[in-house]
Amino acid sequence: MSSSESEDEIMELELSAETMGALMEYYMEQAEREQKLREIEEGDVPDSFEENWNMSQFWYSEETARSLAEECIRTAGNNGSIACVSAPTLYRTLMKMEHSCSVKVLEFDTRFSVYKDDFIFYDFKDPLGVPRKLHEHFDVIVADPPYLSDDCFTKTAITVKFLMKPDATIIVCTGSVMEELAERLLGVKKCQSEIKHENSLSNPFVCFANYNLDDHWKS
Ligand SMILES: C[S@@+](CC[C@H](N)C(=O)[O-])C[C@H]1O[C@@H](n2cnc3c(N)ncnc32)[C@H](O)[C@@H]1O
Repeated sequence: MSSSESEDEIMELELSAETMGALMEYYMEQAEREQKLREIEEGDVPDSFEENWNMSQFWYSEETARSLAEECIRTAGNNGSIACVSAPTLYRTLMKMEHSCSVKVLEFDTRFSVYKDDFIFYDFKDPLGVPRKLHEHFDVIVADPPYLSDDCFTKTAITVKFLMKPDATIIVCTGSVMEELAERLLGVKKCQSEIKHENSLSNPFVCFANYNLDDHWKS
C-alpha cells in the first residue's frame, strides 16, 4: 500500500467517526423526544417548551411573564376569564399562581394541547375560526401576534374583538412599529412597562393597553 492510499483510508475512518457521532446525537435526541411524548401521554406536562423560531416563538422572561400574569389576575377580578392569544408562557405562569380565574390559551403550536380543555387551536389567518361560544367571553385578553406585519396584526385584532367582553381589558405585546395600527384598531396605547424575553430580540418590543397599565405594573 502506497503512503497516499493509507492516508485515504485514515481519512475515510475519520469521516466515519464524525458521521457516527452525528448519528448518535440524532438518536439520543430522538429518544429524548419520545420520552417527553410518553411523559405527556401519561399526563406529566413539561415545565418548558423549546422556542421554535420557525413559528416565531420568543418566550417572555420569567419576570415579564409574572408581571403580565399579576396584571391579568388583578384586572380580571374574582372568577374572571383570561385569554392568552399566542402567549403560552403567560398561560403557564398563570397556571402556577393562586387565583379564581379561568384561563384559555389560543395557540397554533399543537404541543400546547397538553393543556387539554384550556387549549384552543388558533391560526391568526382564520381570525373567526375560534369556537362561537367564546364570543364576548373574556374579561382580559393578552395577545402577542407571531409576525410584525399589518396583515397579522389586523387579523389578530379581529379575533381579540370577537373574544372580548365590551368592557374587557386588552394588552398587546408586539413591536413598537405597530403603534399606529394598534391604536386605530384596538384603542390601545403604548406603555412604558418593559417586556423582556429569554433571548433578546433585535426589534424594539413593547406593550400596548386600553387602560393605565403602567400605574399597576410590578417588575
Ligand atoms: C412572538 S411569540 C409570543 C409568545 C409569548 N412571548 C410567550 O412567551 O408566550 C408568537 C406566538 O405565536 C404563535 N404562532 C405561530 N404561528 C401562529 C399562527 N399561524 N397563528 C397564531 N399563533 C401563531 C407561536 O407559537 C408563539 O407562541
